[in-house]
Amino acid sequence: MELAFFDGTFIRPDERKVLLEDRGYQFGDGIYEVTRVYNRTCFALDRHLARCRRSLRELRIPITYMDEELAAIHHDIIKKSGIKDGTIYFQITRGVGKRTHTFPDQVVPLLSMTIRESKPNSEWQENGIHCGLFEDIRWLRCDIKTLNLLGNIFAKQDAHDKGLQGTIQYRRNTNLITEGASSNFFCVKDGVIWTHPADNLILKGVTRSILLEEIIPHLGYTVVEKAISPEFALSADEAFVTSTSLEVTPVVNIAGHTIGDGAPGKVTQSLLASYHALVKKACYEK
Ligand code: PDD
Repeated sequence: MELAFFDGTFIRPDERKVLLEDRGYQFGDGIYEVTRVYNRTCFALDRHLARCRRSLRELRIPITYMDEELAAIHHDIIKKSGIKDGTIYFQITRGVGKRTHTFPDQVVPLLSMTIRESKPNSEWQENGIHCGLFEDIRWLRCDIKTLNLLGNIFAKQDAHDKGLQGTIQYRRNTNLITEGASSNFFCVKDGVIWTHPADNLILKGVTRSILLEEIIPHLGYTVVEKAISPEFALSADEAFVTSTSLEVTPVVNIAGHTIGDGAPGKVTQSLLASYHALVKKACYEK
């Protein structure tokens, strides 16, 4: 059963609860996280909560929800919903106050959350996806997971309209790829894995960090955290995107150009298998 949490209580997701002068509603003034639930367990919740705290700090929203409290609400919503495999979305806004651009005094941050059933797209993981190339028109603090997503939404809608499954964005001024509209981008060339450095132009994905810190060192691949051009990506042997929802998903075509031999590559497949092994250990062998 889909379920939501709003300002302290569990409700149905379609109950009317948005407060008119919530700054999240009026300004997109807030942050969010998306976590995946496998076998009634939230995967990598500690990493998501750490990023949530960082996003709040960067937006100067006071931290009023402790990690333990947020973890407890995650556990409660999983239990009460009865959902075994799904996605949890939560957001914390600056709170409710009279509409002025500057931060209102004495405003209290507001937490809301939803849980829905979902599973990773195994067909995409087996066969790979086709991605379009889109100009990255987002602001210059993409490292903060804010509610403002119109740049990402435009890229996603354009891809959808073209019948594509994924998006790869590049900055026009530098002709360098940043990331997907809701994923991090990687390519593999001559055995080396390339991905954008975790600076202000990309979101430091939890899945990206897990690959770089917990998986790749064991597999022994070389990683270069350096921005690449679309031309370089098109000539890669393999490409893939990562996110909480996509896990590790091969990219077999970019802007109409086949990547490698058009099938998911060996490096990508080994990363996905290792990621699944980590999920199994964390969520099924507790
Ligand atoms: N998106 N880059 C962007 C712009 C993202 O929105 C996301 C996640 C990622 C990958 O981050 P992670 O590995 O922590 O999921 C990278 C989520 C899933 C979303 O917006 O639904």
